[in-house]
Amino acid sequence: MNISCNWCFISLLLSLFSIFSSLVNAQSFDYPTANLSTLWKNSPSAPHSVPFTDGSTVRAILLRGSFGPRYACGFYCNGNCDTNYLFAIFIVQTNSGSGITLPASGFPQVVWSANGHHPVRINATLELTFDGDLVLRDADGKIAWSTNTGGKSVVGLNLTETGNLVLFDNNNSTVWQSFDYPTDSLVPGQKLMLGRKLAASVSLTNWTKGLFSLSLTNEGLFSFVESNPRQVYVQNSLSFNVTETSYVRFMNGSLSLFLNSSEISDKPDHIFYSIPEASSAQYMRLRPDGHLNVYEWENGEWKVVADLLTGYLGDCNYPMVCGKYGICSNVFCRCPTSDGLATYFKQENDSQSTAGCSQITPISCEYSAHHSFIELKDVTYFTFNSDRENIDSEKCKQECLMNCSCKAAFFRYSDNSSYGDCYLPSEIFSMMNNDKSKTHYNSTAYLKIQNVSSPSPGGSGKKSRQDPKILGLSLGAAGLFVLVTGILVFFFWKKNFDDVEEDYLDQVPGLPRRFSYEELENVTEKFTRILGKGGFGTVFEGTLNDGTKVAVKLLEGLGQIKKSFLTEVEIIGSIQHVNLVGLIGFCAEKSHRLLVYEYMKNGSLDRWIFNNTILDWQQRKKIILHIAKGLTYLHEDCRQKIVHLDIKPQNILLDDSFNAKVSDFGLSKLIDRNEDEVMTTMRGTRGYMAPEWLNSIITEKVDVYSFGVVTLEILCGRKNLDRSLLEEDMHLLNLFKKKAEEGKLMDLVDKYNENMQLNGEEVVNTMKLAAWCLQSDFTKRPSMAMVVKVSEGVNEVEQNLDYNFFNPLPPRKLPEIGHQPEENSSSTVLLPSILSGPR
Ligand SMILES: *[C@@H]1O[C@H](CO)[C@@H](O)[C@H](O)[C@H]1NC(C)=O
Ligand SMILES: *[C@@H]1O[C@H](CO)[C@@H](O)[C@H](O)[C@H]1NC(C)=O
Ligand SMILES: *[C@@H]1O[C@H](CO)[C@@H](O)[C@H](O)[C@H]1NC(C)=O
Repeated sequence: MNISCNWCFISLLLSLFSIFSSLVNAQSFDYPTANLSTLWKNSPSAPHSVPFTDGSTVRAILLRGSFGPRYACGFYCNGNCDTNYLFAIFIVQTNSGSGITLPASGFPQVVWSANGHHPVRINATLELTFDGDLVLRDADGKIAWSTNTGGKSVVGLNLTETGNLVLFDNNNSTVWQSFDYPTDSLVPGQKLMLGRKLAASVSLTNWTKGLFSLSLTNEGLFSFVESNPRQVYVQNSLSFNVTETSYVRFMNGSLSLFLNSSEISDKPDHIFYSIPEASSAQYMRLRPDGHLNVYEWENGEWKVVADLLTGYLGDCNYPMVCGKYGICSNVFCRCPTSDGLATYFKQENDSQSTAGCSQITPISCEYSAHHSFIELKDVTYFTFNSDRENIDSEKCKQECLMNCSCKAAFFRYSDNSSYGDCYLPSEIFSMMNNDKSKTHYNSTAYLKIQNVSSPSPGGSGKKSRQDPKILGLSLGAAGLFVLVTGILVFFFWKKNFDDVEEDYLDQVPGLPRRFSYEELENVTEKFTRILGKGGFGTVFEGTLNDGTKVAVKLLEGLGQIKKSFLTEVEIIGSIQHVNLVGLIGFCAEKSHRLLVYEYMKNGSLDRWIFNNTILDWQQRKKIILHIAKGLTYLHEDCRQKIVHLDIKPQNILLDDSFNAKVSDFGLSKLIDRNEDEVMTTMRGTRGYMAPEWLNSIITEKVDVYSFGVVTLEILCGRKNLDRSLLEEDMHLLNLFKKKAEEGKLMDLVDKYNENMQLNGEEVVNTMKLAAWCLQSDFTKRPSMAMVVKVSEGVNEVEQNLDYNFFNPLPPRKLPEIGHQPEENSSSTVLLPSILSGPR
């Protein structure tokens, strides 16, 4: 038997939990090797075929070890289990005796696969042939993949302790190994050789190559968007040269560079990223959205312990954070508009601002004489690669006009001159607002557009030329409204910008405790235990001297704001309510901005309602009521009304008795203050701005809407958007509308929880409350106080409801939406979005 001590601890834990299964380790099964002329069939009746509740199924062929999280290889499917199987290496939970277990969480994690580009069906076969070739054939006998090692004196197949699948010869030398062909993941000990790539997949269920890659080049470790030519989004440049035999290795504690693979050494030549030391199984994945995450098996589930590239990047710097042509500003996405008069871009998907934007009239090289630009001041790009240096912006634009594959000219001014550098990319991913306080340069983006007003065939020129004018007139009023509201909002905020000095704050009694940075370093053991990561920063676990556990939120990008930070801390600190996460203290020292919150044992709500059917109806009802009470307090009972702007399951935290508390309130405002362009943070630009968008930013009814979505998610036990479902069922709100019209709301009640089914009638009634909160006309939504009354049975739900919930979502933060490619069935295990708030 083969147990390395890495797993001893976790194995012990698991054995403790398996009291119900047979005697621990009674008949361990450990079959890590296979001989020539062996054939395995992808058949549902195969031994060690295990379905998981996340929709995946594994059919293990080789398994290393006997219990704990273990490497195995075999067939794997997720969602599409008739037609889409991988031959893969995955980490699974195993126990003794019965083989692979069915844990409530901790689903199989694929770390390597053979045939991502060519998934196979049921009855596909894997064969280690008599002459040593490992061949994967689809059900129709067609070869889907092979190692091409026939005739190379292979004598057997072995899955090693470290998760490497090896074909070896008589001398036990490696003829072929999976480690040489990494897919999107690395496991500890695995190397990424010079020139090899980690390539992200399109999504967690579509395994073909996606947009992003990571590779070691002669200049350093780079992350690319695979456009043509490719664009760099993270560069870890080196000041020295690498050699042919250099490689990057995922070690315990770091992702490091080794210059020369012929020297056997454990001492890296350079550390690219530090990683929290592994206390259990870890692996690293380049995700479909371009994040490079390290996952660790902790207390029965996979948690994100590091988001490596984000250390260098803000969320806006991820190339697809707002989709193609989307502009990321703070945490919102919008489409390019020129001066608000003419519209050249439309949102790809009305209900999803992160899906990007497209040109209403695509650029045509045939009509290149009619290309021109729209100018976006103070907009920049996630990367900048000077194609031309020291020219003026006119020249930069001209260069772009001359080359049809150029889609935009990004111009960066040199200090206080009209000259600067020019970047001419051929494909446009997400742009962002240029935060001059950070970048220290002025910039303008010129997006190439196709002018339709030219006398093109069909002669529609006249009409289209008029459009902008008409629009302009009708929009004058809206524009004025924007302006006036903008000024009002500005003054409203300005009023609160009282001159508060740091010292003054020190002396005010009743304020949260002030910590020094050093103290918090001690409290959090130098920021080692990450609890989660949210839009505002990372949350760490800590313990105060008196033994109280706390959650310490390290805010990012707020270093330069001081007065408003202190003002905000004063306000947040003064708010105390049993359904709001309490602020214990803060730190504002040099550029460090930290908030210390009470610790919430059960983490955030999303861990409990999606693919996790533990909470019964009484508990869910209580949680809904608690959220409503917390929000009522913020909206109505505080000295100053606070609109949360970001209600979502990740921001609802649960204590050990599943009492819910709202977290992260007051922060949206703080972040907004940091933005000069307050009013344009409205996302969902549909060519021009409707007045209710303004309102939806500044009234508390946006929270009511978000509350409605969260309530519905709690009742249905699924996400608002679930890509693992059929197109028609994917959007919960659409489905809700449909079922309401058919009078079949019972269908929506969480199917996986019997207790919810038993209480179906009451659940459906609460769905109607959610529908009320979701009214597209925000004036028709109830106040949160009314929601509390209805939840407590004092009032009734409004009868006359409109189930046409319109979709421009209320403000939700990007980090969550940005990860949507993975918002499918695999869910709770992998998403960093589950880790948003302080816990
Ligand atoms: C990683 O290193 C730490 C500290 O050296 C050690 O405690 C831990 O056991 C190591 N983890 C693994 C999986 O080897
Ligand atoms: C940016 O432009 C403004 C106004 O055009 C100018 O005052 C400022 O100095 C410029 N900043 C830099 C860094 O060039
Ligand atoms: C045109 O632009 C593309 C991408 O921007 C570039 O790769 C190509 O070399 C350019 N062609 C010429 C002739 O400059």
